[in-house]
Amino acid sequence: MKKIIIINGPNLNLLGKREDDIYGKDTLEDIKNSCEEKGKKLNIELIFFQSNNEGEIINKIHEVESSYDGLIINPAAFTHSSIAILDSLRAINKPKIEIHLSNIYSREEYRKKSITSEGVNGIICGFGGNSYILGIEAMAKLIYN
Ligand code: DQA
Repeated sequence: MKKIIIINGPNLNLLGKREDDIYGKDTLEDIKNSCEEKGKKLNIELIFFQSNNEGEIINKIHEVESSYDGLIINPAAFTHSSIAILDSLRAINKPKIEIHLSNIYSREEYRKKSITSEGVNGIICGFGGNSYILGIEAMAKLIYN
């Protein structure tokens, strides 16, 4: 059984209430439940983590090298600003996938640049909560093939 972590950045704890025209009505708990279901089908143990704090996210990324087979991350707004998170991603030699609920390339100019995606294998965005499920499927291919 492989073990992966899904890290969620700032404000994602407000999903369901926050700008639901963009991010949908599902809460982070709903998304967590569907990810766990998907993980079971693919024989992957899933740890789900959310923080509004950049340092806590970085500390969690550091744990990936020794404790997980892969990392899926939605860095939320840190996507567009955090060289510190990019550096921590680059330090980890495990499969890494960046995901977003919204299509960041079809929104405001300042969202079109993902700094953090320079440190991951690939990026999935624009499919709402399903971006998480697609991320798990892509991760399964990376860790089991
Ligand atoms: C987001 C996109 C980011 O631009 C934004 O700051 C978020 C959510 C997404 O999942 O679509 O908080 O990462």
